[in-house]
Amino acid sequence: MKKIVSTTLIAALALSIVGCSSSGGGTQSGAGGGATGGEAAAGLPKIGVAIYKFDDTFMTGVRNAISDAANGKAEVDIVDSQNSQPTQNDKVDLFITKKVNALAINPVDRTAAGVIIDKAKTANIPVVFLNREPMPEDMQKYDKVYYVGAKAEESGTMSGELIVDYWKAHPEADKNKDGVLQYVMLKGEPGHQDAELRTKFSVKAIEDAGIKVEKVAEDTAMWDRVKGQEKMAAFLASSGDKIEAVLANNDDMALGAIEALKAAGYFKDGKYVPVVGVDATAPALKELEAGTLLGTVLNDAKNQGKATLEIAAVLAKGETPTKENTGFDITDGKYVWISYKKITKDNMADAQ
Ligand code: GAL
Ligand code: CA
Repeated sequence: MKKIVSTTLIAALALSIVGCSSSGGGTQSGAGGGATGGEAAAGLPKIGVAIYKFDDTFMTGVRNAISDAANGKAEVDIVDSQNSQPTQNDKVDLFITKKVNALAINPVDRTAAGVIIDKAKTANIPVVFLNREPMPEDMQKYDKVYYVGAKAEESGTMSGELIVDYWKAHPEADKNKDGVLQYVMLKGEPGHQDAELRTKFSVKAIEDAGIKVEKVAEDTAMWDRVKGQEKMAAFLASSGDKIEAVLANNDDMALGAIEALKAAGYFKDGKYVPVVGVDATAPALKELEAGTLLGTVLNDAKNQGKATLEIAAVLAKGETPTKENTGFDITDGKYVWISYKKITKDNMADAQ
């Protein structure tokens, strides 16, 4: 342990000698993930951050929150893994070569977390995963591994409840008057805990409220707005008249679905179908306001980014994260869970 501490100290010293600027905060090196030499801030721990892909609306919010939280606390180098696990592994190797003091990783493939943990452990660098939850057995492989995320089932339940409230208040929602709710599901990336559990728990919440359901169609749109629009257009072409609700695992896919619905004449002349999403992104709030999106669930990018940075910064200093030194509750010694919140037009301000 002593040896480890002194190595860290020497590294920190070397950093402070090499460093020429005193400003903290984020540097986003983009797809190239190149060196940010000359930007090392004296005395601040260095954190290497890899995001699964920059071109993701919600993760852009998280990435900006990490940058903001880093101000004065750490020097962060945020890189784009371009949705490729091999690319991310290379970026991790590069961070290790550069001797970062901690890693924050949003895995491309959460089952690949074990490989990253092995690399980090060998180099004795702590690692915080975010947004894509590693398997429990991988989390046990190393004492300096943490996860910051949100309980996927909670967001699923909340989005289902939004549909329940609507159905109960609007008897006309049962278009074919069969007492059954016919729905379509736009799923996120298969295998992602948020896609699997939101799908399962949103439907469960509706059934638990005593409502019979029938799945008209389900397909993955990979969290993506354009794909969401394409899949929804296909659902409308094959079974448009049947659909009584649209459940999307995230807002981008919900917004794509709304585009397809608009093109099919919905949201005017009394033609309506309830659409729900998850995330509460800025463009989704606009649709809430306009009355096209029925509701969403706040996926708190700000606190997920902040918690990731706080935990990584404490670890980077060789300390153990606690509620006192991070401001966040730590469950089972490894997990930080950020709460979701149901959002409708009535409480939109809570998500802004
Ligand atoms: C989810 C979020 C999606 C997408 C995904 C990426 O939590 O709801 O919009 O960003 O993470 O892993
Ligand atoms: Ca019906």
